[in-house]
Amino acid sequence: MDYPDRDPVLTRRSIRAYRDEPVDDATVERLLRAGMAAPSAGNQQPWQFIVIRDRATLDQIPTWHPYAKMLPSAPVAVLVLGDPAGVKWAGMWPQDCAACVQNMLIEAELLGLGAVWLGVHPLPEREAALRELLGIPEELVPFALVPFGWPRQRKEPADRYDPSRVHYERW
Ligand SMILES: Cc1cc2nc3c(=O)[nH]c(=O)nc-3n(C[C@H](O)[C@H](O)[C@H](O)COP(=O)(O)O)c2cc1C
Repeated sequence: MDYPDRDPVLTRRSIRAYRDEPVDDATVERLLRAGMAAPSAGNQQPWQFIVIRDRATLDQIPTWHPYAKMLPSAPVAVLVLGDPAGVKWAGMWPQDCAACVQNMLIEAELLGLGAVWLGVHPLPEREAALRELLGIPEELVPFALVPFGWPRQRKEPADRYDPSRVHYERW
């Protein structure tokens, strides 16, 4: 089997420093398209997105999110929201949204962009702060925030393959 030379699943790392250059709307749409291509239970697609470019909004978030210090250097961030109302497999919405976020991270890597998953759900204080800041209605759940930017840092791929975690046929 010939494996690809460049595999964005294996090279992706969290990038937390960005160059002072814009990410254009077409590129953001491409990232959203990748997110919406994710698998979801029964293909229920229980997600909504808020694209945030406003400087004051992005700069405000690290005042209460303890691990979001990179946001002031990001030209854009996407908030992924869960939208479980009325779907058949409502309890699976976090898994669906996680697949969506991961798809966007992998697409970013493929495009040469840097990105990092900033955890929001299930921490109530982070969800509440984003609700207040962005006017999010009760039925939606802020799930994860992902800043994107052209990377100002390079990281080596992390090979985390651990054969001791793999079990065959039964425990
Ligand atoms: C659910 C989740 C929440 C995370 N939250 C944060 C966060 O708030 N801030 C941050 O800088 N990184 C966050 N990360 C990124 C992890 O720190 C990172 O993926 C991990 O250290 C592995 O490094 P790598 O992404 O470079 O492979 C989060 C990742 C996940 C999956």
